[in-house]
Amino acid sequence: MTLPPDLQHQLRQAPHTWLITGVAGFIGSNLLEALLQLDQAVVGLDNFSTGHPRNLDEVQALVSPAQWARFRFIEGDIRDEDDCETACRGVDFVLHQAALGSVPRSLEDPVTTNAVNISGFLNLLVAARNARVKRFVYAASSSTYGNHPGLPKVEDQIGKPLSPYAVTKYVNELYAEVFGRAYGLPSIGLRYFNVFGPRQDPLGAYAAVIPQWINSLLSGRPVWIFGDGETSRDFCFVDNVVQANLRAATVSADEAVNQVYNIAVGERTTLNALYAQIRQLLGSAFPSLQEQPALHREARAGDVRHSLADIGKARQLLGYAPSHRLAAGLQLAMPWYVSLRPPQTRQSEF
Ligand SMILES: NC(=O)c1ccc[n+]([C@@H]2O[C@H](COP(=O)([O-])OP(=O)(O)OC[C@H]3O[C@@H](n4cnc5c(N)ncnc54)[C@H](O)[C@@H]3O)[C@@H](O)[C@H]2O)c1
Repeated sequence: MTLPPDLQHQLRQAPHTWLITGVAGFIGSNLLEALLQLDQAVVGLDNFSTGHPRNLDEVQALVSPAQWARFRFIEGDIRDEDDCETACRGVDFVLHQAALGSVPRSLEDPVTTNAVNISGFLNLLVAARNARVKRFVYAASSSTYGNHPGLPKVEDQIGKPLSPYAVTKYVNELYAEVFGRAYGLPSIGLRYFNVFGPRQDPLGAYAAVIPQWINSLLSGRPVWIFGDGETSRDFCFVDNVVQANLRAATVSADEAVNQVYNIAVGERTTLNALYAQIRQLLGSAFPSLQEQPALHREARAGDVRHSLADIGKARQLLGYAPSHRLAAGLQLAMPWYVSLRPPQTRQSEF
């Protein structure tokens, strides 16, 4: 995990107790790794609905026994008020990641997405308020921009939501704002754009595009691109997201709090260009993949055509500066995906 030296220094000077919800998931487990490596005390909450115990095992292998001893895991559900109260007890900072991600999942099952992403979020806000935490940092989403045509996306110009998932993430922002105003709970929302990196699940119907494509290529299955491939996204390596969370939790300026921020790189890549980059990177270790074409399917409902973040606000108020662009992040993430292959087919080039 690469974090700016000033941030590492600041956190090492002042150990705190953190709650990470969704700790067994992709982003949550990367936050856990970073915080334990900085000798922080961490409480983790997860119900393993989309996260995995193996993500926690991987983090354990990356930290010292003394650092791991500072982690307390609660298997629980944010839809359960008692679980939220228990998890928030004695906590300084909350990094709330638990949610059901995926636009298609929310279109197929809006009720469960609503229960977890809105009722669960509200339970956690109430518990954080009751526990008088110092700050409540939460995963918001670029899906909140909906059908707003502007590019790059600027925080205060949003459109109509295009999916139930987008509704839930926007409602999170509204609730956090109201809890700030009504109860004085200091919060910061981070609108992540397409995040990728180690421990992002490559399997299942709702897998994100980068791990899904890498897994398909490594398993000899066809890669499908929805639409003509000229859809574009601001792909953001997970180390940037970890940095943003830690800066959001610890920034001291009053004007930075009770705000939402775009968290991305500020660069746009089409799916066709992304596929070319992945194929080239994998092709150096697996030459047979160099010429592998992608297949195209009809565009998906609920997907926005282009996404690109203006990250000026996060730069200015949080001191956020992305350390990894797409190519560097892919290079760092690739060994993890290759390691998921059976041992006899692994290559050592990554
Ligand atoms: N990955 C992205 O590109 C992206 C983009 C925008 C926003 N986000 C948001 O970031 C957060 C983390 O996403 P991720 O990519 O790590 O997803 P993930 O699915 O890997 O992690 C989510 C974790 O939350 C847990 N969880 C789900 N429902 C729960 C419940 N009811 N109680 C307790 N735990 C529960 C899951 O088991 C999982 O471990 C989510 O809020 C997501 O909406 C992610």
